[in-house]
Amino acid sequence: MASLFNQSLARARYGNCGVWISGKQEGLAPTHFAMRIATPTASAFLPEKHDLTSLREAAQHCEGCPLYANATQTVFGAGPARAEVMMVGEQPGDVEDRQGKPFVGPAGRLLDQLLEEAGIPRQLVYVTNAVKHFKWTSRGKRRLHSKPNSREIFACRPWLEAELEAIKPEILVLMGATAAQSLLGLQFRITKQRGQPFESDWAPWTMATYHPSALLRAIHQPGEEQLRRNFLDDLQLVAEKLAELK
Ligand code: URA
Ligand code: SF4
Repeated sequence: MASLFNQSLARARYGNCGVWISGKQEGLAPTHFAMRIATPTASAFLPEKHDLTSLREAAQHCEGCPLYANATQTVFGAGPARAEVMMVGEQPGDVEDRQGKPFVGPAGRLLDQLLEEAGIPRQLVYVTNAVKHFKWTSRGKRRLHSKPNSREIFACRPWLEAELEAIKPEILVLMGATAAQSLLGLQFRITKQRGQPFESDWAPWTMATYHPSALLRAIHQPGEEQLRRNFLDDLQLVAEKLAELK
């Protein structure tokens, strides 16, 4: 049946990424098929030219994973093309999805405040996300953030890599486990390794820290002050490194 075949195609495209599938097309010629389905990613949607404007435009049409289907638009990174500092979050939230810009909702406002407190001029920073579409589940009228899985993070990485190659930041700050997982692998632990700069494949000075949403979730909780202090300490290191570059 056609519908059965479509289902298995959909599974092949998104569900069983990178595995062998085999089956029989019922109702059509009785051909058995077996093929290796390449893991779908954003790479097929990357433009020829990799300047930020071309990338941003092309990303609007990305269907490299299923997340585009339920989101309003692609939320690409924003900031100066020659930024010395690049900060990577997880994925756009509800407000970002509607406005099409990263970190303009509650987490973004908190980040702006903390950057200011640490003395890092916001306009020098390019901000982006590991995953460029908002993933959510509905709770009544609200759209609740839902964590991207490792297939989605992997699928979206070509955009992040292209941004890194276009900007070539001196300082790279990965905020939260998703950003760290995307660029440093699954074994990286924010809790153990945050606040420790190192040289990575992506930037001469790379550091992971908390995601600002972790601070939002901690408001009025016992660990709130400590979390905020740690985050500010980490941003202080960024500010010092930035001053060194001047
Ligand atoms: N959280 C993120 O990780 N990114 C945004 O752009 C907004 C909230
Ligand atoms: Fe493409 Fe990333 Fe959106 Fe998936 S989340 S459709 S890979 S831009």
